[in-house]
Amino acid sequence: MSVKLAPSILSADFARLGEQVEEAISAGAEFIHFDVMDGHFVPNLTVGPVVLSALEPIASPSGVTLDVHLMTEKPENLIPDFIQAGADILTVHVEACVHLHRTVQMIKDGGVKAGVAINPATSLVMLEEILPDLDLVLVLSVNPGFGGQSYIPGSTNRIARLRKMLDDRCLERVELEVDGGIKANNASEIVAAGATVLVVGSGVFNREASVSENLFALRQAVEINT
Ligand code: DX5
Ligand code: ZN
Repeated sequence: MSVKLAPSILSADFARLGEQVEEAISAGAEFIHFDVMDGHFVPNLTVGPVVLSALEPIASPSGVTLDVHLMTEKPENLIPDFIQAGADILTVHVEACVHLHRTVQMIKDGGVKAGVAINPATSLVMLEEILPDLDLVLVLSVNPGFGGQSYIPGSTNRIARLRKMLDDRCLERVELEVDGGIKANNASEIVAAGATVLVVGSGVFNREASVSENLFALRQAVEINT
C-alpha cells in the first residue's frame, strides 16, 4: 500500500484556512486531516461540522479524502452531522466508546469509512475484536490535544505490533494511520514500522517553509521506504 500524507489543519492559519487546504491539495496531499476536540475528552476546543462543510467544496473536486478525527466524548452524537458535512472517514477513540461496535456500524451505515484511534497508554489488545470491521486504525504518537508536540519514541514499536496484528489477520486493506510529532526526520522509521498514512500538522503548516516545500520533503523521506 503506498504511503499517504495527511496534513492536519490544526496547525494551519485559520484566517486563511481554505487557501491553506488548497495549497496542501495542489502539493499532492492525499488526505486532509480534520481534528475535532471538545474540551472534555481532550483539553482543547477546535472546529465542528460547519467548518468541514465550508471546506468540502474546496476538497471534493480534487478527490482528496476528508479524514475526520473525533477527539470527543460521546462521538455518536456528532456522527450524523459530520456525515452530512462531507466526511469521507470518521475516526472515533476506543477510549471514548462504551459500545464501540455500535458506533462503528453507525458510521458505516451512513456510507462513510470507519476508523478507530488509540491513545499512547491504551493496550493494543483493545483493538483486537474490532479490527475486521475497520477501514482505518489510528495510532496516536502523542497524547492528543495539541499540535507541535514531540513524537513518543515507544510509538514505533506499537506501530510495528499493530502492523503484525493486521497482517496476521489478512487485514492489509485497513489503513494504519499515525498521528503526532511526525516530521521529515522521523517519517521513514514510522513507514518502515508499517504505517500507511502519516498525519502531519506543524511539520506542514509552519513559518520555516511553504506547505508545498514541507510536503515535498516528507514525500522524499517516505519514498526511501516505498
Ligand atoms: C493531536 C492531533 C494531531 C495534531 C498533529 O492532538 O490529533 O492531528 O494536529 O500535529 P503535529 O504534527 O504538530 O504533532
Ligand atoms: Zn488527529
